[in-house]
Amino acid sequence: MAKKAADQDRTSLHQGRRKRSKFSPTNITLVVWLCCGLNIVVTLFQGSLLQSVDRSEHPGFMETHGRRRPILSADRRMAQLTCDAYGGPLDKEATDEMVYWQDIPEDSKFKSPFLESGTQRYLTFEPDIGGFNNVRMSMETVIAIAHATGRTLVLPPEQNIYLLNKQSGTHKKSFSFADFFPLDTLSSEQDGLDIISTNEFLRREGIAGNLKDGSGQTSYPPNNRTDWNGMQRDVTSVLEPWLQNISVIPSWNPEDCMVAFPTSRKAQNSNSLQLVWDDVMKSGGFPAPDKFIGTPSSVRSSSIKRLYENNKERASLCIYNETLQQAPLLHLPGKNDIGGRLLVHFYAFLFFEDWKQDLWTKRFVRDHLRYVDEIQCAAARIVHAIRKRAMKRSSQNKYGIFDAFHVRRGDFQYKKTRVSAQDMYDISKDEIPDGMTVYIATDEKDKDFFNNMATHFDLVFLDDFKDLLENVNPNLFGMIDQLVASRSRVFFGCWFSTFTGYINRIRGYHADRHKLPGFENGIIESYYYAPSLFKNRMKEFWPVSGATYARERDDGVHSRKLKLNASPIRAALFAWSS
Ligand SMILES: *[C@@H]1O[C@H](CO)[C@@H](O)[C@H](O)[C@H]1NC(C)=O
Ligand SMILES: *[C@@H]1O[C@H](CO)[C@@H](O)[C@H](O)[C@H]1NC(C)=O
Ligand SMILES: *[C@@H]1O[C@H](CO)[C@@H](O)[C@H](O)[C@H]1NC(C)=O
Repeated sequence: MAKKAADQDRTSLHQGRRKRSKFSPTNITLVVWLCCGLNIVVTLFQGSLLQSVDRSEHPGFMETHGRRRPILSADRRMAQLTCDAYGGPLDKEATDEMVYWQDIPEDSKFKSPFLESGTQRYLTFEPDIGGFNNVRMSMETVIAIAHATGRTLVLPPEQNIYLLNKQSGTHKKSFSFADFFPLDTLSSEQDGLDIISTNEFLRREGIAGNLKDGSGQTSYPPNNRTDWNGMQRDVTSVLEPWLQNISVIPSWNPEDCMVAFPTSRKAQNSNSLQLVWDDVMKSGGFPAPDKFIGTPSSVRSSSIKRLYENNKERASLCIYNETLQQAPLLHLPGKNDIGGRLLVHFYAFLFFEDWKQDLWTKRFVRDHLRYVDEIQCAAARIVHAIRKRAMKRSSQNKYGIFDAFHVRRGDFQYKKTRVSAQDMYDISKDEIPDGMTVYIATDEKDKDFFNNMATHFDLVFLDDFKDLLENVNPNLFGMIDQLVASRSRVFFGCWFSTFTGYINRIRGYHADRHKLPGFENGIIESYYYAPSLFKNRMKEFWPVSGATYARERDDGVHSRKLKLNASPIRAALFAWSS
């Protein structure tokens, strides 16, 4: 693709690097990589300083509330959340307690070894067709791939998302990712990552005649249209087939392979990864994942050890090799029949030969792909209100501790999770004392369903706080539910649910921030109410293994599903605490 004047900043390596311009390209790559590596080491070093700040005196869970300062509040890198513009809360403790992401200047300078200055390459994708949390999972993966490949990410046109189309007053019901995640600022904050709209991409490269189909002919956007926002049907039937026709579609199906990024662009590096894989295969394949339950390997291990924990059921490595590196446009259709659906957690799918890049990627997702302030603030108002209520009910409860459930009902396809409120109470009563204030995040509209729990707990729902959500788009309520539940002391979720999974990931981020007991192994105060077999699964380290997504059928407890919700926490934790 043509050189872009607008791409200048990308080509200018910062001072220290520029001085070395006499070096051969190979050495420059090496030097750049060493600089980046150093940045990360510095970051990790600072991390270990933080870790030593305070382990002794947390009462468990509530140290961010009440009068006590958060353990890391002295750290200026802890990002800020300010809610004045979003209807509050104005109380600093109430906003502080939502923050798990950090502002790490060294991290924001990191560029992928595949970023080639002076050449612009692109990544386009089609959002997942499932529910919001599946869309979120695939988005995390795609953004991580964009940075890892050094490609400009092209966001799809605004469109409706399954189950996210409540029409309410003047609120919009057609969305782009930037409505949920702070992507507007991400490009400018993060070196080596550019994000543009489809509209801009089509104007810049399509109308300009730079895009070519398989036969090498210039291919203009259908009808020379650049703005496809809100044109759901045409996007699916016209734009996407056209994108598929002018791009290279890698066959990266999470079920079959892991996408592997060598340490550098050079050919022998992609080969060295392939050799690692071949050696494992020759010596009998990968060990069973059970071998790693309770015994995590170090995040700094060799490639082979890190692959061990992740690859049990996959047939190959999908290496980001020279052919793919050279393609001007990579396209990820994210469909079962083309390319493969990206229904997978990014850390279970992307493999980095360099462990530092792996950890960087995990921090990047934690620190940048978090819900926007509007959603965080709405949740903070509700958490604040629940804590006040809990404090009022009991003078003992001076930090306003509350517990929570995510009860998935509605159209969920896993029948084993359809248990009664009595069953939910029975399985939770050892963990949640009678009289507790319990927040229930649920898609169940009939609140009478919970009567058998209400006789024991002080139940509250999002609906009880409507007055705090007056100007909030109802399509954001699910995300608010997740954030509120993430701040509970004990949490009971639903196995198979990616909605529950994300609550647990955020709880892991918080546990990591505050170094709560068990955090090193990804253990948090979370349980599953159904199926009961899995109740304590979060109380034990569990490896990431194979493709981890919920299948669209109810075939009992398939081994792949076993890992679905256990893994996010550890990946989140080790991003920071290694
Ligand atoms: C799109 O624009 C190009 C360049 O101006 C032109 O050659 C082509 O005919 C146009 N296609 C359509 C469908 O209008
Ligand atoms: C795909 O490309 C071929 C040429 O390689 C062309 O004949 C065909 O019309 C294109 N289809 C679409 C949907 O753009
Ligand atoms: C890179 O991988 C693709 C997809 O697996 C394959 O078609 C291509 O031949 C590979 N290129 C090289 C140079 O190995």
